[in-house]
Amino acid sequence: MKDLILKGLNPQQKAAVEYFGSPLFVSAGAGSGKTKVLTQKIAYLVKEKDIRPNRILAITFTKKAANEMAERIVKMLTIKPKWISTFHSFCVKVLREDIHMLRRSFDRRFVIYDTSDSLKLIKDILKRFSRETKEADEARDIISKAKQSFRSSIFDHIAALPYPASTYAEVAEEYQKDLERSNAMDYDDLIYFAVELLSGYPETRTKWQERFDHLLIDEFQDTNDIQFSLIKLLAGKSKNLFAVGDFFQCIYTWRGSRPSNIERFIREFGAKEMKLEKNYRSTKRILDIANTVVSKVECGWTDKALELHTDNKEEGDVEYKKHADAISESVWIAEKIRQLSRNNTYSDMAILIRMTFLSRALESVFMRHHIPYTIVSGVGFYQRAEIKDLLSYLRFIANPKDAAAFERVINTPGRSIGKKALSNIRQNFRNDWLQALRDTKLTAKQRLAADVFVKTVEGYSNSVEDAPYKVLMGLINDLGYFSHIEKEYKEDSEDRIENVSELSNVLQALEEEGKPFSEFMEDNLLASEQDKIGKEDSVKILTLHAAKGLEWPVVFLPALEEGIFPSARSLTSQSATEEERRLFYVGTTRAKEGLYLSSAESRMKFGQTSCMMKSRYLHEIKHHL
Ligand SMILES: Nc1ncnc2c1ncn2[C@@H]1O[C@H](COP(=O)(O)OP(=O)(O)OP(=O)(O)O)[C@@H](O)[C@H]1O
Ligand SMILES: [Mg+2]
Repeated sequence: MKDLILKGLNPQQKAAVEYFGSPLFVSAGAGSGKTKVLTQKIAYLVKEKDIRPNRILAITFTKKAANEMAERIVKMLTIKPKWISTFHSFCVKVLREDIHMLRRSFDRRFVIYDTSDSLKLIKDILKRFSRETKEADEARDIISKAKQSFRSSIFDHIAALPYPASTYAEVAEEYQKDLERSNAMDYDDLIYFAVELLSGYPETRTKWQERFDHLLIDEFQDTNDIQFSLIKLLAGKSKNLFAVGDFFQCIYTWRGSRPSNIERFIREFGAKEMKLEKNYRSTKRILDIANTVVSKVECGWTDKALELHTDNKEEGDVEYKKHADAISESVWIAEKIRQLSRNNTYSDMAILIRMTFLSRALESVFMRHHIPYTIVSGVGFYQRAEIKDLLSYLRFIANPKDAAAFERVINTPGRSIGKKALSNIRQNFRNDWLQALRDTKLTAKQRLAADVFVKTVEGYSNSVEDAPYKVLMGLINDLGYFSHIEKEYKEDSEDRIENVSELSNVLQALEEEGKPFSEFMEDNLLASEQDKIGKEDSVKILTLHAAKGLEWPVVFLPALEEGIFPSARSLTSQSATEEERRLFYVGTTRAKEGLYLSSAESRMKFGQTSCMMKSRYLHEIKHHL
């Protein structure tokens, strides 16, 4: 068995898998097998060190990565370890079990607000303070950053920021109050409260520390402060800590990640360092291109700069082509894909874009050329209005404290409950919106509609968790939801009804599996862009940021132009300029054999043609093209 697990690993990788007894950090470049080593190590611990699979906690960056890892382990061990998850889904499990310890008004059935739920709430609060709702994004960003840096009081922290950021302290305070009254948490709260729980309650901390014998973390360069704190709390005095990362792939500092966490890990845990220097993914030409651009990053990390070598010969293809405009660029890509599809499946190919608007030109050309494609970013299924409406109903039935869900459903379909009535209802809210509705004086017409609403919701409250499909079908009927859709969305009502049908398929399958509705909501809310990558045979179009950790035989990088890649914003500071180079490194190293680069001399912006200059990266890598 041991040989089976270690088979095919190179000596450095083997050493990392077999290392035991003290914290270890493996820093290594793209495609050197970090994720592979982490996966094999889990199998090795179970088989060779007799560690029970459920006593191993492995943390990955996305759910897709977690699922892939679990699948590979099942293949090797025929057992599925329970604790392979993302930071967020791990924290949800901690909170569902122990949130009562915090002695706040949250209970374990709390709901998770997605970005649009929290923005809506922040807008409401800004209105309450007679402020402009266009400040909502900034307010959310400041609140989010404050939580990510884990201060004991995020309000004091915000109040101490320079003006005008400091003025968001009152918004933050109101926002937290409202969330708690709704028994709701936003994404940042999940980690924030888990850390509060583990840091403030020693018994709970010990319980969680004792639950795991080994802690393993992938993509460490993109952890932020609070995630570091979480790891520290969970690790306690344990020596069994293992992390992998690549400084040169840190592409999320704009969202609070700290590449210096790598040094901190080594220092604070006294970790031994190992390196992997051989790239298994890409051909030599692709690596040369990636290394040329990233070698200009001056980070004081020169000793960490890893020269990647590969035995993959120069075969494969690297090509660059300049086009007149976005359409001819897209046509070129479409034709290339057509050619390549003779020897590759469509799923072997991906187009990595710097900005989402770039997908539009590609999409229209692909449709004409009959190229199957999937846009991985963009409005996801669960963000569509009709899906959000119906899921909000189910969410509200499950938790009548949920303000975001209540506000979404109370007038969908219309019940003539206007602004004034809604504001009265809000004032009467204690801890149940149905009660608030009963307690509010309404006009006769509103009262009638409100009573029907209350009755409908209450009628389903016992069945939503175990029979969400039946509840959904009942609701669609009770609400006359399809005629609502036909009235509201004349043009694409058919499409929307198809979406609802898709949702009912999903819920029916869920019901058959016997999986509770709340668990399903969690899975969907915690899915990131990357998780939307399906298994169908199509060319994937996704942002460079979402492509982290993944690989394809063929990768296209279009729009290599100044102002797009590198982005205009990235050129305003040195650190952002360097992060942009790392993004280029991440993008190019996703390719195994074929890398197709392109740029256009003009692009449409706000309805006008702009001239574009070739990206500086193209000049730098000219002798490799
Ligand atoms: N010893 C090996 N023999 C053959 N293939 C390997 C070996 N090690 C890794 N690979 C393959 O190389 C590719 C890259 O591995 P992996 O994804 O683990 O790298 P990584 O370092 O995690 O990359 P990234 O930095 O992009 O996350 C995978 O297809 C993997 O199966
Ligand atoms: Mg990896």
